[in-house]
This record gives sequence, structure tokens and C-alpha cells, in this order.
Amino acid sequence: MNRLQDKSMLITGAGSGLGREVALLAAAEGARVVVTDKVEARIQPVVDAITAAGGQATGFRVDVTDESQVEAGVAHTVATFGRLDVAFANAGVTVPGQGTVPLEDTTLESWNEVNGVNLVGVFLTIKHAARAMKTTGGGSIVVTSSAASLVSYPGFGIYAAGKAGVNGLVRAAAFDLGKYGIRTNAVCPTHGMSVNFGLDPEAPVVGQSYEEAAGDWDPTHAVMPLRLPFPPSLRHNAWPVIFLASDESQYMSGTSFATADGGQHARVSIPFPENWGLDQQAEASLADVVD
Ligand SMILES: NC(=O)c1ccc[n+]([C@@H]2O[C@H](COP(=O)([O-])OP(=O)(O)OC[C@H]3O[C@@H](n4cnc5c(N)ncnc54)[C@H](O)[C@@H]3O)[C@@H](O)[C@H]2O)c1
Repeated sequence: MNRLQDKSMLITGAGSGLGREVALLAAAEGARVVVTDKVEARIQPVVDAITAAGGQATGFRVDVTDESQVEAGVAHTVATFGRLDVAFANAGVTVPGQGTVPLEDTTLESWNEVNGVNLVGVFLTIKHAARAMKTTGGGSIVVTSSAASLVSYPGFGIYAAGKAGVNGLVRAAAFDLGKYGIRTNAVCPTHGMSVNFGLDPEAPVVGQSYEEAAGDWDPTHAVMPLRLPFPPSLRHNAWPVIFLASDESQYMSGTSFATADGGQHARVSIPFPENWGLDQQAEASLADVVD
């Protein structure tokens, strides 16, 4: 049984990177996919790849910063496939200068440009997806956040703020929409992500992760604790999205978790003194504190 059989799914930013990878994988899992993107030329190749593989897909141009376009994308999904079961609010952009502009020199225009897509665009997608899902008894909304929402990314302050905001929105939406059977969750990727993210919007779609595009993979030089003989890829971030979209995660809502980080977050821990817990003295002083 396919994991998304007959589910109707709208994806934003599906012309490249993670959105494209999830579109291909979701269709292979039986979903009927609406491929949307701001860049018109990126849409049809993804639709064609899905149909060539025997899947079902249609394309529709949506710039997530424009509420009327988001609303039209949802309406197109319902008109084409009869309902909306899954919305993947994935479209996002990086900061101008890719982390080279100090926070104190960052302009309000940059803030509005980045968070107009990454935060406002997610809000608009959740809003209009929820309106459609309410009419059919529920659905799953998945959002692409970032590990930047969980740990410090130097030089990415406005991006981190928007992505942390997305996690808050997902938590709040889980409460507000839960009564309609709608669940909201976010993935927070780091490694295995799209090289196109830092490239011009008109650049050819590479369809590879940074690590794949870098060439020969040497796990001994990986920054993450997990060592595997192959590099992290878009697919390693797409699989958790499929899980959140599917009924396998039916009782999950309001979560934001790291994907393909290879245990890097496990390093962010409170350093305890050696032999902590074995030392009678330490236990005694802990008891004092507790008392
Ligand atoms: N690549 C990374 O390093 C990385 C890491 C963590 C999280 N993310 C997040 O992953 C998500 C997907 O990005 P990606 O890495 O696949 O990059 P990508 O650039 O390959 O794909 C993003 C797609 O979104 C589209 N897009 C941009 N602005 C849009 C808008 N206003 N409306 C609709 N579509 C728009 C682009 O045209 C592009 O096709 C984003 O939310 C991004 O913030 C990326």
C-alpha cells in the first residue's frame, strides 16, 4: 500500500530542492500533487517528471507572498482533485549576502523580503489550506522550517527569527486547528539540502544536496557525529516530510524536528562534571538545592 495513496497534496516552492524532491516522492507514494512555485519555468518539468513516472500532477504558479495567489492555488487543488488532504508549505529564501551582512547593517527591506516568504508565506499557506481542510474533516500541514530555528546560525539572524517564528506558528496552529482534525508539523533541515538555495532563482535546478554536489564523500570529514558511507541528500529530508504527510504520523501535531542533521543537535548539551551522579558530595549538594 502506498503511504499517500489518493491524497491530494499542494506543495509550495516545488520547482526545486526539497519541494521538488517531496513532489516526486509523494507522487510515487500515490499522492495527487499540485506543483506550485514562484518561478513559472520550474513547474512544468516537475509535473512532466511525475507523469512520466506514472504519477498524477498538475502545475500552478503561486508566489506565497501574495495572498490571492495562495488562495487560488488551494482553490485549484480542490477544483482539480476534489479536496486538499496535505499542504506542504515549503517555499523559502535565504538572506541577501548568505550570512556575510552583519546584523547591525541588515536593512528592513531584507527583513521584509526574507520573512515575507519564510514567515508570512507560511502563515498564508496554513490559513488557506486550513479553510479547505475544514470542509472535508481534516488534513496534514507540513512546513519547512530550518535547524536555524533551533541553534545559532551566525549571520542568519533575520532568517533564524523567521524560522523560529514558523515553529511558533506550527505550535499555535496545532491548537487552533486540532478541533477540525487538522495537524501541523515542521521539519528543520540542515545537511542534505539544496544547492540551488544560494543560487540565482533563474539558475538551472541541480536537484542535489551541497554534500552530493561537493563530489567525493569522505565520512571521516563529516561535521556530524553520524558517519555513513554516503552523503546526506534531499531524499533524507524528504522522507520525514512524507512521514508527516502520511497517516503514520496521525497523532503528531505541533512539532518541529531536525532532519538529516546526523546527530549534530545531540552535541548541544549541558556539560556535566566528570563522574557527576557518582560523586556523593555532588549528590549531597544537589539535595541541598532541591530542599
Ligand atoms: N538549502 C538549505 O541550505 C536549507 C536549509 C534548511 C532549510 N531550508 C529551507 O528549505 C526550504 C526549501 O528550500 P530549498 O533548500 O529546497 O531551496 P531551493 O532554492 O532549491 O528551492 C526553493 C524553491 O522555492 C521557490 N520560491 C522562492 N520564493 C518563492 C515564493 N515567494 N513563492 C513561491 N515559491 C518561491 C524557488 O523558486 C525554489 O524553486 C526553504 O523553506 C528553505 O528555507 C533550506
